[in-house]
Amino acid sequence: MGGMIKMTLFLDTGDIKEVKKYLDMGIIEGVTTNPTILKKSGIKNVEKACKEIAKLIYPKPLSVELTQNDSITAMINEAKEKVKWASNIVIKVPFHGPKGETDNIKVIKKLSDDRIKVNVTAMMSAQQCYLAALAGARYVSLFCGRVNNMGYNSVDELKKLRKLLDMQRSTSEIICASTREVLNIIEWLEAGGHIVTVVPDLLEKMIVHPYTKETVDMFLKDAKKSK
Ligand code: E4P
Repeated sequence: MGGMIKMTLFLDTGDIKEVKKYLDMGIIEGVTTNPTILKKSGIKNVEKACKEIAKLIYPKPLSVELTQNDSITAMINEAKEKVKWASNIVIKVPFHGPKGETDNIKVIKKLSDDRIKVNVTAMMSAQQCYLAALAGARYVSLFCGRVNNMGYNSVDELKKLRKLLDMQRSTSEIICASTREVLNIIEWLEAGGHIVTVVPDLLEKMIVHPYTKETVDMFLKDAKKSK
């Protein structure tokens, strides 16, 4: 087992207010973004927003994704520009391109060889994650919610993947992404994920329980009566 690695949570958002909120609670150890999340968060200036988040969470990692899949050189150049934003930037590289272009794996290797931390993204199987780890990825992101939505069991993929990585004493960490339900978070950590990247909405639901509200309300009312 890779026993020294602790299980933890990242926040899957581009919203700095949400980052600050959960950072102050001490329950997140990093942040992940992608172009869709940044668009949904209403970010107009990606560089400015990422620099602010990276500074706020430093030295915890902020994952920022490449925005084109044109060529090996173009991807490497973009990654090299983005890591200049802050020293805790991790570059997200899709495992392959939109048409199945496999040059991305060479990009993963080259960046990792150059000591740039890579989070390999958009992966749907243990097999893809295993290969990404072999290529040198610091993090391998399995899109567990999407795996479930395709009719496969993400828990089975996670168990297989963690076993393989541990057998090889791999230093790659598994990020479980695409959270869809609160129960995913504990389920995926139990199955072998090192990290679950959670959307703020689900983290809020994980914290607030109606019966806890009712119980605390009772305590506070009774405390007033005993004064
Ligand atoms: C995180 O790293 C992923 O980009 C994110 O969880 C993907 O989420 P989605 O499957 O909801 O688009």
